[in-house]
Amino acid sequence: MNANYKKIVEGIPFFSEDRYWGKAPKEELERAVEVIEKEGWDEFRSRFSNKFDQTFEENRADWRFVIPLAEDFRVLDVGAGMGRISIPLARVASSVVALDGSYLRMKFLKLRAEKEGLKNIEVYVGDILDKPFGKESFDLIVMNGLLEWVGATERFHDPREAQIASLKIAKDLLKKGGHLYIGIENRFALAYLRGRDHSGLYFTSYMPRFVANIYMKLRRGRSYDTYTYTKSGYEKLLREAGFNNIEFYLTYPGYNLPRMMIPYDNLNALSYALHSIVHSSILLWLYRYFFFSFGIVVQK
Ligand SMILES: C[S@@+](CC[C@H](N)C(=O)[O-])C[C@H]1O[C@@H](n2cnc3c(N)ncnc32)[C@H](O)[C@@H]1O
Repeated sequence: MNANYKKIVEGIPFFSEDRYWGKAPKEELERAVEVIEKEGWDEFRSRFSNKFDQTFEENRADWRFVIPLAEDFRVLDVGAGMGRISIPLARVASSVVALDGSYLRMKFLKLRAEKEGLKNIEVYVGDILDKPFGKESFDLIVMNGLLEWVGATERFHDPREAQIASLKIAKDLLKKGGHLYIGIENRFALAYLRGRDHSGLYFTSYMPRFVANIYMKLRRGRSYDTYTYTKSGYEKLLREAGFNNIEFYLTYPGYNLPRMMIPYDNLNALSYALHSIVHSSILLWLYRYFFFSFGIVVQK
């Protein structure tokens, strides 16, 4: 597809150097991949069940029903991780290109694609900021759980600049009329009252950025670079990257398991999703500002 590889390791081309990513230590994923290769998937399942954020359920990509996905679509899954989106999409698209900064994750995905008999998945190690692939190569680009991590780089002084740069690259890579799908948290999600932000600390997404930055430096010795936004914040970001056709969905219960894609303005659908516990339009209207996550569909 593109000969700008730095190297190829075990059939996996590298656009950038490997950057391990994951909650479990790297050595553990290395061991797990070895178990898959030497002892098979049953052994892997029994020894490492859900250890690496992997899943064998395929409904993480169910947001696809709001996008006109045709059989001849070529898809780029950026930050493809353990393949929870690439695998289900490969069953319905013509081909899926999976890109991730982490070699072990791409190795896992390659093995998984082989196990499933999916010959239409290509895997690459690379950073989206390295502008891999040629212009207008894809009908659909997916960034599920990716944009919040893109700012964690030395290349830009400001994480927001890195995020805009990655969106501009996605725009270049999309064919005219193609779609970008972003699954991501809401900065002011109520869930962050009891759960940690991407920084690993509590409440940082609620703080003004400069306060979060000082707090992070004091607590972790590094800057705060995992920015999430409100709906209007994402809108602004996408417009700055050159996109104008933007639709928001509330992903219920969350973007990692989108059982319902609720159009942002459809308060009746939101009320239905909440089992009609909340009837007041004002409360529903307000609740959207604190909803957990968004599915954002953007067309070039
Ligand atoms: C939260 S995981 C999401 C994985 C997958 N999209 C999913 O929904 O299951 C984020 C992934 O993005 C990858 N990643 C982070 N920054 C990246 C970048 N700049 N370019 C490519 N991949 C990146 C990480 O290695 C990690 O696998």
